[in-house]
Amino acid sequence: MDLELSVVAEKNGSTIREATRAPADAQRGRPLRGLLLLSAAILLACRPMVANGVFGSGGPSIPARRTPEFPTGWRFTTGERGVISRNAMVVSNSALASEAGAEIMRRGGNAIDAAVATGFALAVTYPVAGNIGGGGFMVIRMADGRVASIDYREVAPLASTRNMYIDPSGMRTDKSLVGHLASGVPGAVAGMAEALSKYGSMSLGDVIEPAIRLAGEGFVVDSSLWRSLTGDSALLTRFAGATTFYPGGRPIAPGSRLVQQDLARTLRLIAAQGPAAFYRGEVADLLVAEMQRGAGIITKEDLARYRPIWREPLRSSYRGYSLIAMPPASSGGTTMIESLNILETYASLPPFHSSAYKHLLAESFRRAFVDRNTKLCDPAFCNVPVAQLTSKSHAETLAQTIKSNQATRTSSMASIPAGTHTTHYSVVDAKGNAVATTTTLNGGYGSGVYVTGAGFFLNNEMDDLAVAPGQPNMFGLIEGEQNAVQPGKRPLSSMSPTIVLDPRGELLLVAGAAGGPTIITGTMQVILNVIEHRMSLADAMRAPRMHHQAWPDSIRFERNGFTAAVSDSLTAIGHGLYQTQALTNVNAIMRVRGGLEGVVEPRGSGGAVGY
Ligand code: GLY
Repeated sequence: MDLELSVVAEKNGSTIREATRAPADAQRGRPLRGLLLLSAAILLACRPMVANGVFGSGGPSIPARRTPEFPTGWRFTTGERGVISRNAMVVSNSALASEAGAEIMRRGGNAIDAAVATGFALAVTYPVAGNIGGGGFMVIRMADGRVASIDYREVAPLASTRNMYIDPSGMRTDKSLVGHLASGVPGAVAGMAEALSKYGSMSLGDVIEPAIRLAGEGFVVDSSLWRSLTGDSALLTRFAGATTFYPGGRPIAPGSRLVQQDLARTLRLIAAQGPAAFYRGEVADLLVAEMQRGAGIITKEDLARYRPIWREPLRSSYRGYSLIAMPPASSGGTTMIESLNILETYASLPPFHSSAYKHLLAESFRRAFVDRNTKLCDPAFCNVPVAQLTSKSHAETLAQTIKSNQATRTSSMASIPAGTHTTHYSVVDAKGNAVATTTTLNGGYGSGVYVTGAGFFLNNEMDDLAVAPGQPNMFGLIEGEQNAVQPGKRPLSSMSPTIVLDPRGELLLVAGAAGGPTIITGTMQVILNVIEHRMSLADAMRAPRMHHQAWPDSIRFERNGFTAAVSDSLTAIGHGLYQTQALTNVNAIMRVRGGLEGVVEPRGSGGAVGY
């Protein structure tokens, strides 16, 4: 695979209107000047603060919002609003799980308590991606300015080997996707417990309580869960979850009550004994017994050795706003910062709906994904040049290679499979503590394997390793040897939990997404829509999205998200286009004057619960 970028010959002389590039000299002074200009704009735009506003101060320092125009035929309208609350907010893909988090904050818990409560509740009410059998990443910013991030990604079992997922002819099999061999050692329970012990204020038993209730007493199945179970029935009915989710051989019907007694028992054990129950006690025994039933390789030693890792979050800036993002083993923060830095080299960006803007987005994504796919991996296993990749000077070098009227070429391949089976939740409490968490089983319901007697699904995160370096994974990503299977390695992730501060350094936005590599580009577009295009959060979430990940070499865009003129212009300068129904599942909270606005992904389901 040729990993270099090369310029595509101009097809017919059609050009895209050039975005304004700041001259190199001007760019050197740009951050300071940008900051001054922004501050001036902010002073003009800010009206007197609402008395006793959110966090006891007032509104955020952001310029007034602008209503975008959406293309004719686009599925969403502008001018909607999210859920507005005065004090605190949880936004997740399950209204019941968001309510669990809000309940904990109403009882006096902080955002970390609420995030952990939401995470455990998602394992009950959103089994397609919420989990205790998977892993994730959490970014924390406390109201006093402290920041932290915790990596509780799964790790490859000790018995894993480089070629365990390829056949004798070198082609990948489906064993990294389906069945007992597909799972990495789960990190969710250890990660959430660790985050709680350092930044929470309540006990594990207290914050798990809503999840135990939801599992033990059950909850009413909605059409969204039913549809999801219907879609995945071929996978799930092969394993032990069939009894719980397919009574009588059919997906549990909407309106009926889903009770998960085994899961309730597991959660009670964790509440009483802490993560030890999961990693060394009774749950570990059940998990290893399940592995042995299906020729899986996770052992008691794997479980006992699992540790979450506190990592220094990535810090960066975009036109005076600050980003706090997830470092490797997720590629999310690095790739997003690299793309944003490229765009920041332009003194101003073209309008949202112009082909010039779509072209610049695609070219910035393309360059950042080339670096992502070739240089990033678990930092315990390779030297990850994060500082260089996220530097403004690297972005400047890459930006110089972007032509305003020519697409660059990386390679071409067939379609990109869709993937939305991760889940992100955002939490802000009344003091302004903020948590962005993304967690996953990788595919929907992970490997399909359900731990008999313990009541939860196991991940298929081994497929996020380069199981056959040079061949695409389930997201169409082609990665190199640095991400090949090795015992103890964390698979490279795209999860991008991110917190954005306004130019005064105060909390503005908490965001993140599901959707494989589109997590990175989807999260970034919501941030850009708010900062650059000054959309309200509701409009920013409803605006059409696009995606480019270097390979396949085409822009993926949402149906009716580009006008015909934009598509024609992009094609004319050499971009491949690939239309899809929906991209990315983002859940976000934005600080607005006098409160918080929570917006659930309009393309998905869930709930924003505030008070
Ligand atoms: N399993 C999806 C990701 O971590 O990017």
